[in-house]
Amino acid sequence: MTVLKSLSDVFTLRDGHAIPCVGFGTWQSQEGEVAKQAVKDALEIGYRHIDTAYAYYNERSVGLGIQESGLDRKDIFLTTKLWNTDRGYETTLKACQKSLELLGVDYLDLYLIHWPANDNVYDDPVKVNKDTWRAFEKLHKDGLVRSLGMSNFLKPHIEQILDDAEIPPVVDQIEFHPGYPQFDAVEFCRQNGILVEAWSPLGSGRVLSDARLQKLAEKYGKTTAQICLRWELQHDVIPLPKSTHKERIISNAQIFDFDISAEDVRMIDELPTFGYSTYSPYTLPF
Ligand code: A2P
Repeated sequence: MTVLKSLSDVFTLRDGHAIPCVGFGTWQSQEGEVAKQAVKDALEIGYRHIDTAYAYYNERSVGLGIQESGLDRKDIFLTTKLWNTDRGYETTLKACQKSLELLGVDYLDLYLIHWPANDNVYDDPVKVNKDTWRAFEKLHKDGLVRSLGMSNFLKPHIEQILDDAEIPPVVDQIEFHPGYPQFDAVEFCRQNGILVEAWSPLGSGRVLSDARLQKLAEKYGKTTAQICLRWELQHDVIPLPKSTHKERIISNAQIFDFDISAEDVRMIDELPTFGYSTYSPYTLPF
């Protein structure tokens, strides 16, 4: 476990870039004032890592939030994701330009393939994934994207990319929370120098009412959300909590002043499956 003391402490990616250890999530943050204000609040509070996606339909507001924060672009780690309908070589190059325009920036810190192509949607999903990755490598060489990664890729999908990648992926963002930790995928990523980020680190709110987690929260004098986020950090996984409420954005950042004991970490690790989104990269119909 890496010792981390604040939101701006970093992990070092395999490509040498630094990535702040907690990201601010924006899935389901409504385009417009709500998404913009949430990003401004997060940056004011000290978050330095913002995660969005073309498919969240809020890149414009996220970009405005960054601009209005008054912070230097270089002091913010910004991630967005390529949407499924843009997979493929030329379409990926265009989609990245579009995201850059919407965000109002001239480079991304991290670009992720949002979901792997699967055979529910394509005759040859492996070719689609490889073509998309070639475009990612071009975007990197052109200086538009600093680090390359993927989201929702599990072992077989990652192997497709590693098979002939010139520039290997450095991040995989997967569903990871108490009740659905996907430890096999985390272990495979680790063996291949890929840092894991947790989407739905609070199970999109679904795990917060769990009595076992609430009991632990009481024991540590913390909120259930803080227990989830701390547990993720103790696994060297980057949580990306989303909130559009300032008091929650603040409290989700107060996770550096306690440790969950090894015994309690194990208890959370071993909880049976609950709070799973049901989104599987093997069967997703888009
Ligand atoms: P809201 O944006 O209204 O605050 P995840 O990050 O796992 O996707 O979870 C996000 C969901 O959890 C959102 O519905 C968000 O609601 C809610 N949420 C975020 N932080 C907290 C918190 N500290 N306590 C309760 N609910 C939270």
